[in-house]
Amino acid sequence: MKNDGHKWYIVIGSFILVLLLFSVIAGSSQIQQSFATNPRSKENFDFNWQFHKGDIAMELVVRVGQGGITDINVPIINKKDTVIDYTNSISSASFYPPDWKAVNLPHDWAIEGDFVEDNTLGSQPGGSGYLPTGVGFYRKEFVIPESDKGCKISIEFDGIFRNSTVWVNGHLMGTHLSGYTPSNYDITDVLRYGNEGKNAILVKVDATQAQGWWYEGAGIYRHVWLVKTDKLHVARFGTYVTTPVISDAEASVNIKTTLKNEYSTEKKITLVSKIVDTKGIVHDVQTSNQSIASFEQVKIVQIGAIKTPSLWSPEMPNLYKLMTEVTEGGKIVDTYETTFGVRTMEINKDGVFLNGKLYPVKGTCNHQDFAGLGVALPDKINWYKLKLLKDVGSNGYRTHHPSTPELLHMCDSMGILVLAENRHLSSSEDGLKDLTTMLLRDRNHPSIFLWSMENEEAMQGTVMGARILETLVETTHRIDPTRKVTAAMNKARNDAGYSDILDVVGYNYGDKQLAYVTDKENYPGRVMFCTEGTSFVSTRGEYVNSWWPQTCSNTILWQPNWGPYPGEDWADIVKYPYLGGLFVWTGFDYRGEPTPFLWPSVSSQFGFMDLCGFPKDGYHAYKAAWTDIPVVHIFPHWNWPGKEGDSIQVHCYTNCDEVELLLDGKHIARKKAEPYKKVIWDLVYQPGKLEAKGYKGGQLVTKDIVETTLAPAKVAVSSDVNTLEADGCDVAVIRVGIEDAKGRVVPTADNLVKFEIEGPGKIIGVGNGNPKSHEPDKASQRMAFNGYCMVLVQTEKQAGQIKLKATSENLKDAEVVIRAEH
Ligand code: GAL
Repeated sequence: MKNDGHKWYIVIGSFILVLLLFSVIAGSSQIQQSFATNPRSKENFDFNWQFHKGDIAMELVVRVGQGGITDINVPIINKKDTVIDYTNSISSASFYPPDWKAVNLPHDWAIEGDFVEDNTLGSQPGGSGYLPTGVGFYRKEFVIPESDKGCKISIEFDGIFRNSTVWVNGHLMGTHLSGYTPSNYDITDVLRYGNEGKNAILVKVDATQAQGWWYEGAGIYRHVWLVKTDKLHVARFGTYVTTPVISDAEASVNIKTTLKNEYSTEKKITLVSKIVDTKGIVHDVQTSNQSIASFEQVKIVQIGAIKTPSLWSPEMPNLYKLMTEVTEGGKIVDTYETTFGVRTMEINKDGVFLNGKLYPVKGTCNHQDFAGLGVALPDKINWYKLKLLKDVGSNGYRTHHPSTPELLHMCDSMGILVLAENRHLSSSEDGLKDLTTMLLRDRNHPSIFLWSMENEEAMQGTVMGARILETLVETTHRIDPTRKVTAAMNKARNDAGYSDILDVVGYNYGDKQLAYVTDKENYPGRVMFCTEGTSFVSTRGEYVNSWWPQTCSNTILWQPNWGPYPGEDWADIVKYPYLGGLFVWTGFDYRGEPTPFLWPSVSSQFGFMDLCGFPKDGYHAYKAAWTDIPVVHIFPHWNWPGKEGDSIQVHCYTNCDEVELLLDGKHIARKKAEPYKKVIWDLVYQPGKLEAKGYKGGQLVTKDIVETTLAPAKVAVSSDVNTLEADGCDVAVIRVGIEDAKGRVVPTADNLVKFEIEGPGKIIGVGNGNPKSHEPDKASQRMAFNGYCMVLVQTEKQAGQIKLKATSENLKDAEVVIRAEH
């Protein structure tokens, strides 16, 4: 990870360094000073938590701020003043119940459990991936220095699945229902500073209720931050940057900054807003003076400009930064950074236009889920998944619910358009709070091009549904008038005026009976987008559709009414550009929803990559459709002992004009390829070497080889990186293949691979992409599935050499060495 140059926070880090350097060179004392004296801090709060699985009978707190597990559990020596004897190290070291275990965040306790055949788990049978959730508690003790007295201190949870209740030092701070939106508590008053003693935070998580019909995990599965500011500060999500007028010569920059004065006196402030690019060049500086009454908040509007702006696009993800500086009486009281981009996005009845050009979105839908980890993904894994999607030529990502903020930062810097989705069609106080929080938090991201209000809600196309939708759409237009609003609809698109409320009508599976084409004829002015499609089910490396042993073939469609084949879906977007683009369901398999099966299958099979990110055959169909890279990919594998003399079809995904198939060097047939369609040959099986040659304009441009292998002989390992950050967070993805003596992966191998690790690293999960596997993900061994498995290694905070050894009975073992560096 360290050397790849894509990690967004490294990018941002270097950006800050460049800025500092620039300010020194330019003699700009203001920027230097702002970094040296910034009273704002955002401290990562992920480490050193304790976790207890199960409910705890909590004493009803009748007077707040009193002991128990919500506080430092030591004798209360003076109940009246709730003074805690925190100096008693013996009693403060243990507390009831005794079975707390040390964890770091992000954490998902459901993935640590055993699979249980219980169809009542989750919102629908199989939905939860047969992993029980339940109730859990998190607790952390921490120290706040005396010098923080007078600051405002809050704790920000990026995501807890779900129904969380938070206490700090015995004080109930609040509750938050959604597992997908962040929660924040001002804990200034209830903290202990310096000699007042230690602090304890307790979080109860009740994940028993589902919010969706997929695996959602359980626990504090996103980052936690401790945020410290002056009492005079930029409000939470307090900046909004838009670029309403853009030309080659100039982009106007509209800056809205919300400032909060939590002092008991009026404050006169100066707000300086600087627009800076990634090279550190300052493009504009706007200064405003303002009085803010005590306990008031004000919104200050400034208009800036960028001359000859560098536009943002997936191909050139140029970013700018708004550097906000608030001074009072000559003293800097707050600095705040907002990343933004300059781009135009027009979605109209003819399609999607990015920076003035038709730009069909090549998108995938995905859940926050990965092998070995459940929903608790370190940043690196979010990045890794996006990188794999970029490699296949994808330029779009649809969330099915508010996403983790890091993902959006990565989409900004890596260049991926995001369709950001609200979870529920609900205009309740809580429903609107969730929507509003998502909009306020995320509206500065240039990657987000469209908001979705809901997905396939039961009330689509109903009168009541339309009323609720209207409230959500109005709320969204008010908070972010710059983006259009859609809903992902699979039904009743022409009923009850529902679609009329939307700026863009979202079509899920509009290809069925070409509903989107019929609707376009009937409603020619309608603005449309293919919010979801495909749902092609395939099990990596399998070529038979079977109810037992529950496999979905990569070659043949499963059941009537299911499909289309990967890549074929794109043909409609090319033919009808007004559809705007497509979000394929899904890029990656995810836990839960093991359609078309139930137990013992526990994961979905919709992805064109499996749960580990290993490509299935369909992956190559999208690479062929979405890139100019010549693609020829033939399948199935060619290991069919006992089938000699049987007829077997060879399939091929390609973007070449013609493909020639050879067996053991002997020409079989050269066929013309139709765009987005598979090429298929009928062959009589005999072991050997299949070769497919792809031609464009008569020239050989690429080829693919599939060979009958020998028996498994060795384990092979390859890490995606040689070096990692020794920060306790960074992760290496180590792919493991079972190879024959000639170094070819044996496509049917299922050998058990054991892992040993030495040095400052730990195994945080294993996987193999088998949707039926009930092996634990938190383990140091895994069976290969159709030739492959995977192990994830995370650094500790010490630097050093991490050695991972992979062994398997009767096979030659393998080793990989990774350097963890500061
Ligand atoms: C869609 C739905 C997704 C997933 C998918 C499976 O209708 O939006 O969440 O369930 O079907 O095909």
